[in-house]
Amino acid sequence: MGTSTSDDAAVYRISDELAIVQTVDFFTPVVDEPYWFGAIAAANSLSDVYAMGGTPAFALNIVAFPRKSEAAPLSALGEILRGGSEKAKEAGIEIVGGHTIDDNEPKYGLCVTGFVHPEKIWRNVGARPGDKVVLTKPLGTGIVATALRAGKAGEEAARCAIESMTALNAAAAEVGRRVGVRACTDVTGFGLLAHLLEMLGEGNLGARIELSSVPVLPWTRELLKQGFVPGGTHRNRQCVGPCVFPDACVSEEEMLLLCDAQTSGGLLFAVAADQSARLVEELKAAGVLAATEVGQITEASEKHIEVVS
Ligand code: CO
Ligand code: CO
Repeated sequence: MGTSTSDDAAVYRISDELAIVQTVDFFTPVVDEPYWFGAIAAANSLSDVYAMGGTPAFALNIVAFPRKSEAAPLSALGEILRGGSEKAKEAGIEIVGGHTIDDNEPKYGLCVTGFVHPEKIWRNVGARPGDKVVLTKPLGTGIVATALRAGKAGEEAARCAIESMTALNAAAAEVGRRVGVRACTDVTGFGLLAHLLEMLGEGNLGARIELSSVPVLPWTRELLKQGFVPGGTHRNRQCVGPCVFPDACVSEEEMLLLCDAQTSGGLLFAVAADQSARLVEELKAAGVLAATEVGQITEASEKHIEVVS
């Protein structure tokens, strides 16, 4: 038996054949419609189980909601829970309980329990020089959600962002298991570059990202130009600063995009170079939103990421 918490979720080994994957996540509304907020929060919470190579088993609700408020009627709470419950059902599990507290600002998420074979756990480290880096969802949810809150995102921008944030990472994980990958994590609040830096671990690894191949949600670049950048994205950009080297053609705006704080983002895989094309092909066949090779792992004397245009 043993525990480990250095990854997307905690893993607790029960036997040689079985380990529990445990994760919890909750946040304030990212979109106006309560139903979609619930579905997004559930997909986001489930993602950490998929990112560990696990299969969800059941979940509990975590809810904060104002007891009396005209801005947030009780019917909205019902919609949030319905969104979460339908998303859980899509993942093949049930929400078997939970806890609600009185709070002025609504919050919602899940505590998810899953299973994984102890020898088939995906870590976020383990990539090797030459491996390809594959991303399964477009970037931009932080930027679009910020514009949405300001009432400045159009209908198409909103629809595409919601479609991406509510998409389960289940199919992507299943393909990853079938093809075999060397490392996996999910892209969430720290943004693509910081999650990729984590993936480089403490070994002699670097990475190169090809900006032109990075999938981006429709309208994200336009909204970014208009200044809709979440605080978390600016913080992410500052944090990765010393380790990231954009070439001369890469603008600071594009660097912000690569650092955009994601909600319910895609899986980020490191895969052996000779398996990358098959991985991307099978991800596409499985209907994964944006299965794209975005760069590769390199040998380096110091951990760093190069961004080329
Ligand atoms: Co994660
Ligand atoms: Co998380």
